[in-house]
Parts: sequence; C-alpha cells; structure tokens
Amino acid sequence: MMTASHIVLEAMKKRHVRAVRSIDKQVYSQPWSTSIYHEELRRRDKRVYYVAYHEGQIAGYGGAMIVHDEGHITSIAVHPEAQGLGIAKRLLVAVHRSCLDHPINAMTLEVRVSNERAQHLYRRFGYVPAGIRAGYYRDNNEDALIMWCNDIQKPAHAALLDDIETSISGSTDWGQK
Ligand SMILES: CC(C)(COP(=O)(O)OP(=O)(O)OC[C@H]1O[C@@H](n2cnc3c(N)ncnc32)[C@H](O)[C@@H]1OP(=O)(O)O)[C@@H](O)C(=O)NCCC(=O)NCCS
Repeated sequence: MMTASHIVLEAMKKRHVRAVRSIDKQVYSQPWSTSIYHEELRRRDKRVYYVAYHEGQIAGYGGAMIVHDEGHITSIAVHPEAQGLGIAKRLLVAVHRSCLDHPINAMTLEVRVSNERAQHLYRRFGYVPAGIRAGYYRDNNEDALIMWCNDIQKPAHAALLDDIETSISGSTDWGQK
C-alpha cells in the first residue's frame, strides 16, 4: 500500500471531462453528462474546478459554484484505486482557497446520509450538519445531509487549510493553473 504520493493539481478544462466522467461512472449512480460539465466550465467567473493527477492519470476532481454570498461544493470524487492517498483533501484545500477569492463567507454542500467517509472529510474542513433534505437522491430516495462551513474568511479557516495541507503525506504541485 502506498503511503506517500505526488499529486499535480490543475484547473479543470474541457479536455479533462472524459476522464472526470469515467471516475463519476465508477462512484456515482447518477453521473453528470458531458454537456453539464461543459456548461459548468463556461461559467468560469462563478465556478472553481480542479483535477488531480496521480502517476500521470487524472485520479480525482472537485469543484464548487459561487451562488450569491456562498460557495456550494458541487462534487468531489476520487478514482477507487487512488482513494486514501489524500487526494480529496488536496482538492478541497485548493477549492476552498479559490473560493476565498470571492466575496463569500460560507461554504455548503449536500451529502448522502450513508456517506460517512465523505462526511468525515467535510468535518475535517469545518463543515457541520445543518439539516436534512428528505429524499434528495432520486435513485434510492436517500436523504441528503446539508452541511455548512462558516466564517471561511476568518484567519482560523486559512490556518485550518494550512494544517490539513501540512498533514498530508507526499507532495502537491501545480500544473497549469
Ligand atoms: C469521499 C472521497 C472523495 C474521499 O477521497 P479520498 O481521496 O479517498 O480522501 P482522502 O484520502 O483525501 O482522505 C480524506 C478523508 O477520507 C477518509 N478516508 C480516506 N481513506 C479512507 C478509508 N480507506 N476508509 C475510510 N475513510 C477513509 C478519512 O477520513 C480521510 O481523512 P483523515 O486522513 O483525516 O482521516 C472518495 O471516497 C470518493 O470519491 N467517494 C465517492 C464519491 C463521493 O462520495 N463523493 C462525495 C460526494 S458528497
């Protein structure tokens, strides 16, 4: 089992969508279509999407949209064979830092109530449960847990992101930003 890894992060482009969708198809029951991704990427001013390369392959991606005065995590996923290497944490650090460039004070997301692994990841970033959307996921009528991460512009949040980054073993580089 690998303990350290070298990851390269890059802003998501249209040319990454095929690889991103292939990860989605493995981890989600209702993956986004190519046209949804293209539409997201067209809205550059209000969107933040990154891909992560591991051993030369796209191993994960994550993104958020800026809606009014909040950031909304739309999706974060890592290829099953590359999970547990800290890729999601690196992506979320990058997404949060980019969101801080916008005039927003909080981040939010929905996560399946059964997805304890993702919930643990989000708690690490300061997200707390704030409610339930009943039957939000159409495939099995599962409830969504709504989580919020508040006060992201305060120094404590930047310090938390630094702490998380330092705790990840391996190294992170930037490709084309
Ligand atoms: C949730 C997901 C994105 C995490 O990606 P990842 O790259 O494996 O996560 P990381 O390696 O960065 O680890 C982040 C946290 O996940 C948890 N985690 C990682 N590997 C784990 C494992 N083998 N078993 C249980 N939890 C694990 C840990 O809590 C870890 O935090 P810690 O190191 O502080 O304990 C990934 O499991 C995934 O793609 N799942 C399917 C898609 C999904 O559910 N996305 C979220 C939708 S809301």
